[in-house]
Amino acid sequence: MTFDFSGRTVVVVGGTSGINRGIAESFARAGARVAVASRSEQKVEDTVSALAILGAEAMGFAADVRDQDAIRKGFSDVEQAFGQFDVLVSGAAGNFPALANGMSANAFKSVVDIDLLGTFHVMQAAYCHLKKPGASVVNISAPQAFLPMIAQSHVCAAKAGVDMITRTLAMEWGPKGVRVNSVVPGPIEGTEGMSRLAPTPALMAQVKAGVPLRRLGTPEDVGNLCMFLASDFASYMNGTVIPVDGGWSLGGISSYAATLGDFMMKTSTEGE
Ligand code: HXC
Ligand code: NAP
Repeated sequence: MTFDFSGRTVVVVGGTSGINRGIAESFARAGARVAVASRSEQKVEDTVSALAILGAEAMGFAADVRDQDAIRKGFSDVEQAFGQFDVLVSGAAGNFPALANGMSANAFKSVVDIDLLGTFHVMQAAYCHLKKPGASVVNISAPQAFLPMIAQSHVCAAKAGVDMITRTLAMEWGPKGVRVNSVVPGPIEGTEGMSRLAPTPALMAQVKAGVPLRRLGTPEDVGNLCMFLASDFASYMNGTVIPVDGGWSLGGISSYAATLGDFMMKTSTEGE
C-alpha cells in the first residue's frame, strides 16, 4: 500500500519533528525529493540525515515562519536544487494551554504569528515556486479550528484562520491548477502537541478512551492522508478540511476538553 512520488519535489515547513517530520518521511519513503524547514539548524540537519537514510534526496534550511524574507530565501535555494514544488506542506505551529486572562497579548500574538500569519507567509512565498498547473498545498490544522476549547483561545483563533486561508486560496489558486486543502490531525502519539495538551497519564487515557478507534494516531496516519491529497487520486479535491483523527472530533474530544478546562479553571486565578 503506497504512493509513488518519485521525481516529485515536496517541501515540508515545520517538518523537523513530530507529525510534520512523519509526513516528510512518508513522502521520502514514497520516492520524493524532500526539503524541510524549521527554526533549529540542529533539527533540520538531523531530519535531512534521517530522510537520506530512507533513500530520499533531501535538503533543508533553518528559518522562522514569522520571517517571510528568510522563508523566501530558503524556498529559492530549494527550487534551485530540486526544481519547482509539486507539494507544499505548511505545518509550523506553537501551542501552550493558557486561559485568555492568563496570557499576555504577546503570548496570544506569538501563536497567531506562528500558526496563522506563518501559514500566510509560507503560502505566499511558495506561490512563485509551485508547479502550475499541478501543485498541491496541504495546511496542517487542528480540531481547535472548529471546536472551541478552554485554554486554547489563541490556537482556536489561529487554526480557524488557517482553514479559512485554505478555503480562500483554494478559490484564488484553483484557476491556476493549484489545489489547497487542510488536514486536521487528531491526537497523535509521541508528539509535542499531545505532551503539552494531555500532560498526565489520566488525561492521556481520557483522550484514548474518547477516540472511537480506541487508539492514538501515528504520524504515518497523517502522512497517508497528505500523500492522498497530494496525489492524482485527489485531483478534484480543493478547499477541503479533512480530519484524520479516528473519529475523535465526532464527540469524544469534548469530555477530554472539559477535563482540561476544569483543571485550568481550578488552578488559575486570572481575571478574578
Ligand atoms: C502563558 C506563555 C506560555 C504559557 C509562553 N508564553 N508559554 N504564556 N502560558 N504556558 C508567553 C511568553 O511569556 C511570551 O509572552 C510569549 O508567550 C512568547 O513566548 P516566547 O518563549 O518568547 O516565544 P517563542 O520563543 O517565539 O516560542 C513560541 C512558543 C513556544 C509558542 C511560546 O512554545 C514554541 O516555540 N512552540 C513550538 C512547539 C510547539 O508548541 N509544538 C506544539 C504544537 S501542537 P511575554 O508577554 O512574556 O513576552 C499544536 C496543536 C496541538 O499546535 C493540538 C492537539 C489536539
Ligand atoms: P512539534 O513537534 O512541535 O512540531 C512543530 C514543528 O514546527 C517543528 O518542526 C518546529 O521546529 C516547527 N516550528 C515551530 N515554530 C516554528 C516557527 N516559528 N518557524 C518555523 N518552524 C517552526 O509539534 P506536533 O505536535 O508534531 O504538531 C505538528 C503540527 O500538527 C502542528 O501544526 C500542530 O498544530 C498540528 N497538530 C498536532 C496534533 C498533535 O496531536 N500533536 C493534533 C492536531 C494538530 P523548530 O522548533 O525547529 O522550529
